Amino acid sequence: MIIDTHAHYDDEAFDKDREKLLDSMQNRGIEYIVNVGASIASCKTTVGLTRRFPNVYGALGVHPDEVASLTDEDFDWLKHAIYKPKIVAVGEIGLDYHWMTFPKEQQQEVFRKQMKLAQRVGKPVAIHSREAMEDTLKILKKFPDVKGIFHCYPGSVETAKEVIDNYYLGIGGVLTFKNAKKLVEVVENIPLDKLIIETDCPYMAPTPYRGKRNE
Ligand code: NI
Repeated sequence: MIIDTHAHYDDEAFDKDREKLLDSMQNRGIEYIVNVGASIASCKTTVGLTRRFPNVYGALGVHPDEVASLTDEDFDWLKHAIYKPKIVAVGEIGLDYHWMTFPKEQQQEVFRKQMKLAQRVGKPVAIHSREAMEDTLKILKKFPDVKGIFHCYPGSVETAKEVIDNYYLGIGGVLTFKNAKKLVEVVENIPLDKLIIETDCPYMAPTPYRGKRNE
């Protein structure tokens, strides 16, 4: 049985064939899909997908590139929506210093807020961390009782060994990229039961489909 632990089927890239695609997944060996929210709008779409498709579960949270979209009113909605049936995690949440759409302090504040939410409701998190490992780890260490997935794991073997007590490492198409030396090392050195698969679709299509829509 294959579970895609991180997908974005709410994305407009799937507007033309979403229904057909999701209905066909079980025949293609994908038993379950966790659709992961990034903005509040995509969280709401995610809830809709979990209702429409028996094989789709959801994670709700605000991505570091979208933190401005999290108004107090939205956070109130999130606090309640997280209890909905088939919502299995808080995510994706974290820090992105590559795009730096918002200042570090603002990203960290919203990240901590959502880590607290996960802690309070006792659900796992899906972590997004890009060029921000040091600050990501600092915040995760403040929440030793929260567990989850390090989505699209971007770190070293050393860091992986530090986090695998609480976090599974999400491995996707990046592993097949020519420049993926660090991730290959991680996969070779970390026990298989600490690795999980994900597509991050429509992004991160593996070689030789790199740059095309992932599904
Ligand atoms: Ni994602």
